Amino acid sequence: MPPVKVLGIESSCDETGVALYDTERGLLGHAVHTQVAMHEVYGGVVPELASRDHIRRMIPLLERVLAESKCARRDIDAIAYTAGPGLAGALLVGASFAEALALALGVPALPVHHLEGHLLSPLLGDDAPAFPFIALLVSGGHTQLMRVTRVGDYELLGESQDDAAGEAFDKTAKLLGLGYPGGPALAQLAASGRPGRFKLPRPMLKSGDLSFSFSGLKTAVLTAARARELTDVDRADLAAEFQEAVTEVLAVKAVAACRRHRLSVLVVAGGVGANRRLRERLDEAMAKIGGRVFYPALELCTDNGAMIAFCGAQRLLQGAAADRGGAFAVRPRWPLDQLA
Ligand code: KG4
Ligand code: ZN
Repeated sequence: MPPVKVLGIESSCDETGVALYDTERGLLGHAVHTQVAMHEVYGGVVPELASRDHIRRMIPLLERVLAESKCARRDIDAIAYTAGPGLAGALLVGASFAEALALALGVPALPVHHLEGHLLSPLLGDDAPAFPFIALLVSGGHTQLMRVTRVGDYELLGESQDDAAGEAFDKTAKLLGLGYPGGPALAQLAASGRPGRFKLPRPMLKSGDLSFSFSGLKTAVLTAARARELTDVDRADLAAEFQEAVTEVLAVKAVAACRRHRLSVLVVAGGVGANRRLRERLDEAMAKIGGRVFYPALELCTDNGAMIAFCGAQRLLQGAAADRGGAFAVRPRWPLDQLA
């Protein structure tokens, strides 16, 4: 197949992402606009505001990416967009923009699964992992362990039964009086704290399966916070202990999945994959079993268009049939093992 340029569009939550990926030359350009500042005052994502902002950002981001890539619209060979899971209204903005542009340019439009984008994002680097591997997906909405045999072949091994790891970070951060998004803020506070002074549980650590549960941790933090007036030192120590608890469970289960499937390659994707402590633990634990961990570049850990463009490109290389614009649907809920 001759090289093709795939435009990627991401709008599933609070980041608008656009990117151009060339199947021969790699990533030509990518740009992200984050809505964090806009949602911050509300303490969380306001879906209606998110949708309206995606509309405002889409065309300027496209222009920026084309300029950075030194390409014109006519150079685009296909357009991949996030069709789910995510916020329905936000997804519809990206989907209708992508489908309309595809129709106008006469090129295929490719609906992409957001988590598949995250999952394949480490393959965008120069030092890409080889199949098969175990993937630990840790985002704001999902915590899953998957066995990845090849592009498009994902077996769910275990997932969170309640809050996702990122969600637990966000909710706990809120309890400790930190802003939104809570994950990075909590991680920063944890860096100055001492774990172990407060004792938090390690939920399902010894459950013998690959499932997770994080909602109890948030409640445990709330109980500790209610028991006394927290000083700044207390808050930092609680944050540190919380981070230890979440990262310990994630690391132990990820390594257990690798052992069980006799695989030595672990791929980590999703926003929580940016957490330094998690990376430290995973690197250490995988090295002990002679394995290795692959991460996406830090800027590609959180939502972006590059992973969507890359995912669409893989689909095209596999000969996926793509429609040429027209009828489309988004899937706010869409399990990754039901890609079909
Ligand atoms: O993958 P992502 O950008 O969006 C979703 O698809 O959900 O992940 C966002 C999540 C948020 O919950 C955010 O708090 C968390 O990732 N996050 C972190 C860190 N950076 C982002 N959690 C812990 N430590 C971090 N450094
Ligand atoms: Zn995401």
